[in-house]
Amino acid sequence: MKNFIGIDVGGTKITGVVFDGKRILDRLTIVTPRSLFEFERNLRKLADFLSANRQIAGVGIGMAGLIDARRGLVVYSPNIKYIKNLPLARRLQRAGLGPVRIDNDANCFTRAEMRLGQGKAFKNFLALTLGTGIGGGIVIDRNIYRGRGGGGELGHIVLDGQFWETAFQKARDQKDDQKLARLTGWALASLTNALEPDAVIIGGGVATDHGRHFWPGAKKEMKKFLFNPESKTKVLISKLKDAGALGAALLWI
Ligand code: BGC
Repeated sequence: MKNFIGIDVGGTKITGVVFDGKRILDRLTIVTPRSLFEFERNLRKLADFLSANRQIAGVGIGMAGLIDARRGLVVYSPNIKYIKNLPLARRLQRAGLGPVRIDNDANCFTRAEMRLGQGKAFKNFLALTLGTGIGGGIVIDRNIYRGRGGGGELGHIVLDGQFWETAFQKARDQKDDQKLARLTGWALASLTNALEPDAVIIGGGVATDHGRHFWPGAKKEMKKFLFNPESKTKVLISKLKDAGALGAALLWI
């Protein structure tokens, strides 16, 4: 059986796993570095640690931000400011990591949900990651929809003159759970009104750790603004561990 490395690069932490297509064999989490130099060095170290005494057939990386997957380029990453137009796949390959593929982190989460998680049950669904930033993925007919390449940035829908992500980050810093509930409810209603998916699957640290403080409020707020009050769209919390990193490994499988 072949082994693959999947790495999920978020604004706060980076998680890497070794996946053999069925099981996670090893995992490691590090803090997201503060400079490009350290970022590349630590990513290499993480991959070296995970590949020690193993043959690795491919490395997948999920990165927050606008990704040009075909060219292996990270164009722009809102919460990791030092990254701009970085040919990450090529640089890591040159550093000896073997073949590298990259994709947006939330699309990796979405892929893992679709193939291994609750998304297995749905033809059309949305995925959201609530963490340092807010990521999104759109699944239509079991394919990840990207528009002209950069689509699916659901955290960048605009609510009340601000990106949802920006307003959410402010409310989180102010510990304003009512505001978090309102913003999340509005976003869920808007997305459901636009696309009426079978489900919205939500993951990310903020959703799983802090979620109970604002879910009940968010669901009420969502209901208020549903165009179709009978809408059967389900709102589910992800149960998949290391989903982002698994979805990055799945770039190869
Ligand atoms: C980025 C997304 C990313 C999300 C979660 C946002 O700031 O624009 O691409 O998926 O953060 O990391």
